[in-house]
Amino acid sequence: MARKWTIDEDDAILSMRESGKSIDQIAKKFNATATQIRHRIYLHRPEGEPSEQTDSVRIKQLEKRVVQLQKALEIARRPKPEMKGVSLAKRSKGDYLRVIIPDTHGCKVNVPAFSALLADLEVLKPKEVVWLGDHLDCGGFLAQHHTIGYVSETDYTFEDDVAACNTHLDAVMERCPKAVHHYLEGNHEVRVERWITTQTLANKADSNYLRKMFGPELVLNLAKRGVHWYARGKFHMGVTVPGTIKLGKCHFTHGSRTGAHAASAMLRDFGGNIVYGHTHTMDSAHSRSVHHGSIGAWCPGALCELQPMYMHTQVTRWNHGYGLQFVREDGGFLHVNVPIIEGVSYLVPLTSAIG
Ligand SMILES: [Fe+2]
Repeated sequence: MARKWTIDEDDAILSMRESGKSIDQIAKKFNATATQIRHRIYLHRPEGEPSEQTDSVRIKQLEKRVVQLQKALEIARRPKPEMKGVSLAKRSKGDYLRVIIPDTHGCKVNVPAFSALLADLEVLKPKEVVWLGDHLDCGGFLAQHHTIGYVSETDYTFEDDVAACNTHLDAVMERCPKAVHHYLEGNHEVRVERWITTQTLANKADSNYLRKMFGPELVLNLAKRGVHWYARGKFHMGVTVPGTIKLGKCHFTHGSRTGAHAASAMLRDFGGNIVYGHTHTMDSAHSRSVHHGSIGAWCPGALCELQPMYMHTQVTRWNHGYGLQFVREDGGFLHVNVPIIEGVSYLVPLTSAIG
């Protein structure tokens, strides 16, 4: 099969010949025979040089060469991709970290998972902490619904539960002394208010009195701690859904959707960025809306027991983890669900590898 010569090779052959290189030297350079090199030189000989070929053959060769050069010119003229207008995001002084702590469930906390969170907090030192709710378990308040002999929710007292949650608050606040804390009431904390309301239906004053004594925000000393408390039955920050807050460009709520597609359902409900707990299952969904652009829904999992007795033999899909947001000054953010696997978070060792 005849060797195909490129334009660049022909140009190099002619250039070497013009610089005085011998045919053999050029042949060696191109791993070709002397005859092949002579033929290439012959094809590109200057006009008027004696030819053994007819004019028509010569014309065809030149026409072929013109087509080759036109193609090369066309390729050379094609516009090249440019990086105009590209600006890399730069770190600003106003950027900060926000940590989102999902369902710890008081006495039903998973100690290794919660300890992994504490270890990360020592390094992260977030400026903002969102407690997503269900940090008291309040299992005993459901006792009226329990069947006789079913005691899985009554192996601890409300006092134990409150003490556990206060310990968790102390531990986190100790590690993030400068952080602003937001605490959303979950469906477990609300059991206290429901129980009180049930017991005091005939007397609102009694109800208010008991709530002042046993309400979660009171027993957890949230006001004294400087922690912002958001009741499930009230509207906050102008958001049109009760028990929900908005920080920067992201909503936070305890959540009410469950099931395999909870994240998609939450995203559809809110039509904007939303972080929620309640399902105990690490999940996320993403979409784009004409009004808000790219939006997402995230559940960071939970920090409680993954297979509590009240689930009976039903196998849960729950995961341990917490949420981490890198927040920009303008409220934009990057959300990461940080998994805690068998009581270990890989966040700090792996991110330190970035440098
Ligand atoms: Fe929960």
